[in-house]
Amino acid sequence: MIRAAGFGDMTAAGEIYVSGHWAAYRGAVPYASLRALNADVEGQSLQGELGKPQSVFLVAVNRAGRVVGFALGGVTDADATLGGLAELHVDRRYRRRGVGRLLTKAIAQRLGAMGVNKLTAVVAKCKRPRRSDR
Ligand SMILES: CC(C)(COP(=O)(O)OP(=O)(O)OC[C@H]1O[C@@H](n2cnc3c(N)ncnc32)[C@H](O)[C@@H]1OP(=O)(O)O)[C@@H](O)C(=O)NCCC(=O)NCCS
Repeated sequence: MIRAAGFGDMTAAGEIYVSGHWAAYRGAVPYASLRALNADVEGQSLQGELGKPQSVFLVAVNRAGRVVGFALGGVTDADATLGGLAELHVDRRYRRRGVGRLLTKAIAQRLGAMGVNKLTAVVAKCKRPRRSDR
């Protein structure tokens, strides 16, 4: 199920954010920057996004109500018809089951209802790890 994120989801979101960054950026950024990530700190930072009128913050929950992924999007300041997908992370145990697709669709629908008709997302092309990154 996809629903709006709340304060009680931020611990799980912080953990999923950190493991998602390891999965996405290992080998592409220095290991030290990944090791420096802290789930509590990231959860608090994500909490700052809750309730912003231009943002859409959604979580995916499993049948037991546990958060298994989240997505954060918003309307850009410069153009009210342009939206951005800022974060998309799924718990590694739930990947490749359509959760990411559901979250992306839900973000697009919510932003569409806010007047957005274009959605951007930044995609990193990752490389193999270099010795200097370790
Ligand atoms: C990227 C991520 C959000 C995808 O979520 P997911 O729930 O596994 O994705 P879905 O199962 O909904 O798959 C949706 C589509 O993406 C494809 N896909 C999923 N993960 C992929 C990957 N790592 N590489 C290439 N394609 C991928 C699926 O094959 C599917 O396409 P298809 O229907 O044509 O087969 C998830 O793997 C993740 O959290 N990764 C770590 C964090 C990350 O990379 N976030 C994005 C950048 S910050």
